[in-house]
Amino acid sequence: MSLTTLLTSIFSEAFVRQGADASLGTVVVSRKPEVAQFQCNGAMAAAKALGKNPREIAEAVVADLSDRTEFEELSVAGPGFVNIRLADAFIAEHTRATAADDRFGIPRVPEPRTLVVDYGGPNVAKPMHVGHLRSSIIGDSIIRILRFAGHDVKGDIHMGDWGLQMGMVIVETERRMPGLPYFDPRFAGEYPAGSPVTMDDLQEMYPAISRECKEDTGLLARCQKATVELQTGRRGYVALWRHFVAVSMEAMKADFHRLGVDFDLWFGESSYEAAIPPMVERIRAEGHARLDDGAWIVDVAREDDNKPMPPVMLINSQGGTGYHTTDLATIEQRVGAFSADGILYVVDKRQSLHFEQVFRAARKTGIAPERVALEHLPFGTMNGKDGKPFKTRAGGVMRLNELIAMMTEEAGKRMLEAGVAQDYPDAERREIAEKVGMAALRYADLMNVRSADYVFDVERFTQFEGRTGAYLLYAAVRIKSILRKAADAGLAAGDIAEPATASERDLMLKLSAMPDALGDAVRERMPHHVCGYAFDLGQAFSRFYNDCHIMSEPDGARQASWLGLCDLVLREMEFLLGLLGIETPERM
Ligand code: ARG
Repeated sequence: MSLTTLLTSIFSEAFVRQGADASLGTVVVSRKPEVAQFQCNGAMAAAKALGKNPREIAEAVVADLSDRTEFEELSVAGPGFVNIRLADAFIAEHTRATAADDRFGIPRVPEPRTLVVDYGGPNVAKPMHVGHLRSSIIGDSIIRILRFAGHDVKGDIHMGDWGLQMGMVIVETERRMPGLPYFDPRFAGEYPAGSPVTMDDLQEMYPAISRECKEDTGLLARCQKATVELQTGRRGYVALWRHFVAVSMEAMKADFHRLGVDFDLWFGESSYEAAIPPMVERIRAEGHARLDDGAWIVDVAREDDNKPMPPVMLINSQGGTGYHTTDLATIEQRVGAFSADGILYVVDKRQSLHFEQVFRAARKTGIAPERVALEHLPFGTMNGKDGKPFKTRAGGVMRLNELIAMMTEEAGKRMLEAGVAQDYPDAERREIAEKVGMAALRYADLMNVRSADYVFDVERFTQFEGRTGAYLLYAAVRIKSILRKAADAGLAAGDIAEPATASERDLMLKLSAMPDALGDAVRERMPHHVCGYAFDLGQAFSRFYNDCHIMSEPDGARQASWLGLCDLVLREMEFLLGLLGIETPERM
């Protein structure tokens, strides 16, 4: 339990004894640390409700609690704020309890849910772009956070493997290699086992034909026709499509592996193809859809909408189905086969309208009953220094492996400047550089409010100072080295004692706030709370470490207590970094 939760329950009881509502006993961390550690501001509202003077109520609460050993000092300030300072013995006791608990005092959610997280979402045959990178990093962290909270979570990649881009690459392959058997409708033999194209080919073919289609409507129509033929099972196209999927998946798996992201489910849009006809039939039979200009649509606009809300396209006028219909069938499947109580979509905020439409249609058609939560967790754009979506210097989309190489190189430069790991073997130094680079990338992507845009700045992200992943890794590794040095000198960590200095007390109070940061992250599905807290903890540790000279401390018990504190901070730091998907090296 966090300290604020514990104090809140003590104060709530005191407020109830004054005849006020328990909810008024909420205790928060003081915004003026020089005046108080915590404060409770409920007296003002209690006074209003009871028709009394707020100061009197505050004073009565303080008098009521004056015998309790948790408090060093309770005082009333201003119109009726209660300022709280805790007894050092109580702070130490709470810290020891945190150290002894393998969940660091963080409670499990009272009602665990089965959740599907839809993230990553790369597209077959199209290059992965930074949007997919953000989705993967944010989704991965949200999954780790929700799992720790106690939910049963499945991560699903939801690959885009069934749209128009598939028709485009089929047509492009035919234009380049018309002799292949996939295009001969009379061919009845077995198709070749190997793919006619590589991932590099695909990365070049898709942008080429997609550009051409923008100017050439005839070519676009041909691609649309090929897409419908694929979707209705044309044998040669399906065989060719399987190659595209296999080749793309192999590349994706390698990329995600380097990123440290692992999906539980590798479903794609195509996985729901068979479920679409019966679903559409039911929606029509139940009267939720109507015919409009040859297309079947579901109206989702409401009277009180203050923005345009176009209908959901169930079947287009050519008889095809697209993004809306696939997402509806996907929800049906997740609710049915996975008994999901909630589906969370970690997708670019530019798709907000799409999800609003789909969610409304899913409610209207009963595909998602009210008990199933549907949440779009939007994220902003990663921009270049020019304020536009991040591109390579040549203006193209940056591939994930290029990005990782760039982060590693930059991290290597910062390590050289800071004299980090310079006397280590080359292989270890390279490995550390990759870890620092990945930590920098992940932290930069997670530290801001999810929905905000941010500017990609490798040089800043890899600094060992400031709010960076590199700083946090360095902080964690420094504690490892302190503990190693102590062990070499025959010193062991001991029971955490009462704080002897202000910075030590502040560090303990900071440690006690971790459950609150986690609670915020779980409730809001926002990893930046974890990032912010980890940074604050790193800073509090630094101040403690500068103040308290552990190795030269003559008092053995105090020295052991300080080492115990180091050990706890390290365990918490590695735990927090783990929630962000960041791995700590042994040394650096
Ligand atoms: N493949 C899509 C894209 O690249 C993202 C998929 C998001 N998930 C979903 N269920 N629609 O934009």
